[in-house]
Amino acid sequence: MTRTIPVGRSNYTSRLLDLWELYDECKGSENDNPAILPRDQQFIVLELANAGQDLESYQFNSAEQAHALFLQVAFGLAVGEEAFQFEHRDLHWGNVLIAPTEQKYATFVLRGRSHRVPRCGVAATIIDYSLSRLSLPLTAAGERAALYNDLAADDTLFDAVGDYQFTVYRLMRDRLGNDWKNFEPYTNILWLHYTVDKMITALRYKRTNTKIHKHYISKLKAIKDRILSYGSAVQFVLTDIEY
Ligand SMILES: Nc1ncnc2c1ncn2[C@@H]1O[C@H](COP(=O)(O)OP(=O)(O)OP(=O)(O)O)[C@@H](O)[C@H]1O
Ligand SMILES: [Mg+2]
Repeated sequence: MTRTIPVGRSNYTSRLLDLWELYDECKGSENDNPAILPRDQQFIVLELANAGQDLESYQFNSAEQAHALFLQVAFGLAVGEEAFQFEHRDLHWGNVLIAPTEQKYATFVLRGRSHRVPRCGVAATIIDYSLSRLSLPLTAAGERAALYNDLAADDTLFDAVGDYQFTVYRLMRDRLGNDWKNFEPYTNILWLHYTVDKMITALRYKRTNTKIHKHYISKLKAIKDRILSYGSAVQFVLTDIEY
């Protein structure tokens, strides 16, 4: 659930400044304190449902849960590709949130067919569309309007090193020929490859010495070996996944 409350042009209220500082003290923020904004700064407030904790800090019971989360993210991207020619373009592990759930399955409808994906106690939410791309039909003749962030104008995004995340920005640029308007769902595959790599090499698990954990780590490794051969999240979930 997202609610947008337009606030217009005014002072950023002291209540919001206090909340920002409280968040910064408790969790730390890499963003600028809004207190530095000018008095006539325009802003809006977005109220979001609490979607849980980010993938980077989450501790899974075992790789079975991580695998279930991975499938939810892959199907979510696939539905976005089909409906809006959606590419996330920045799906690092701070942009996947995890909330506990008792629901047994998540249901995704793709090309008129329902797919039931196990939750395994975790509900995935994809957030942060700052770099994302989608397009909407404009005319019956098939013309579309694309909404995207022109990353060709970004000086710093492609220079960072030290984590696979930063390589993914360069791989996306190569695939798109630096033309960010185009629909190239392979960028979703690149981020899924990054996600499955994190699940194998960097995520935290409560129990690692069990058969089930080892079984699902092998499954994740097999996905990691295969996934770059698919052209889109749709193609991946429709041809690769048995669950
Ligand atoms: N709906 C939500 N529920 C719970 N936590 C959230 C939610 N939305 C955002 N957060 C928290 O706030 C953090 C930053 O949110 P978001 O990614 O939208 O902002 P950002 O400034 O674009 O971040 P970055 O530039 O680091 O990607 C998330 O990593 C998450 O920890
Ligand atoms: Mg973010």
